Amino acid sequence: MKKRKWIWIGGAILIIGIAIGGYLMEKQTLRKLAENDDLLIGSSIRYDALLEDDTYQRLATTEFSSWTIENEMKMDAMQPEQGAFNFVKVDEMVQMAEEHDIKLRGHVLVWGEALPEWVSQQVVDRASAEQVLKTHIQELVKHYKGSIDTFDVVNEAWNDDGTLRDTIWLRTIGPDYIPLAFQWAREANPDAKLYYNDYGNEMSNAKSEAMLEALSNWKKDGIPIDGIGMQTHVDAADSRFSKNRIQEWFTRIEDAGFDIAVTEMDVKLQNLNNGDAKNVQAERFGDVMEVCLDTPACGEFTVWGISDNHSWVTEQESPNGKPLLFDENGQPKKAYNTLKRKLLF
Ligand code: XIL
Repeated sequence: MKKRKWIWIGGAILIIGIAIGGYLMEKQTLRKLAENDDLLIGSSIRYDALLEDDTYQRLATTEFSSWTIENEMKMDAMQPEQGAFNFVKVDEMVQMAEEHDIKLRGHVLVWGEALPEWVSQQVVDRASAEQVLKTHIQELVKHYKGSIDTFDVVNEAWNDDGTLRDTIWLRTIGPDYIPLAFQWAREANPDAKLYYNDYGNEMSNAKSEAMLEALSNWKKDGIPIDGIGMQTHVDAADSRFSKNRIQEWFTRIEDAGFDIAVTEMDVKLQNLNNGDAKNVQAERFGDVMEVCLDTPACGEFTVWGISDNHSWVTEQESPNGKPLLFDENGQPKKAYNTLKRKLLF
């Protein structure tokens, strides 16, 4: 009789526990849950969607504690004509972020893409390239001193085979453009966190090994590279994805002395049938979150967009990709609940 009583009491406590856990999870936002883990949870943010789409704005300001400017800070948007900087939109986003106590990630200072047309005419040799790049980096970093203190300084510098990507900066300056960019950014703001950012670098492979070796060597020589951003654009159908390999790789980056951020995660679906796809998508978001939570150096987990109707994957790669945490109506998807569960337990 006594034993039975205890089984009943134990069962009741378990059920109440599960109910409280479920209630807490339901009521909490991602941002609130991530706070308890000391983790920034971010999304890329688009100026137009923020102003025009109420649901987007509500989710952006309530679910996330960090915003990465998706396009408005790229060189073509920031310096459309040489020397004529256009800070207006990003300034507005900064103000809105401040009102909601949201941190900003500056994206991106140096990239081979999103260049204004004048660059190809004005950047003709090493001297002109250095002058243009230094001015661009320092104007931005100085303008946002005090409001943006984390930057993706250099973006996507390596090819998949581990060679350096052919960009106007590599052609004119050579590989030195990478360490120089970090030094110029540091000069403009001694307190900023400076990141290298790339895709396909979240596991060990030819590209990521070349990246880590070069960044580590520069770091040893005193180049101020604080962290490495792993974009983590994932295809749900890609069988190379492996939580263990990601964990091993994050640990290696941490051991090399770098901070870590997951900077642009999305998981596109198009090659799987629907039921499976949603589970695989949720699982992959959950796996990367778990790795980030288990790696002390990982301080930020950012997704590349909020709802499927404002996603570069949907627009540019696969219309049925549905790669994000909220559907086109702003309703939370399975992946959203999986992230919450990982943050809560
Ligand atoms: C993408 C934006 O999401 C699109 O809206 C834009 O048209 C092209 O750029 N890696 C990066 C991001 O570092 O800046 C890219 O963003 C996606 C890939």
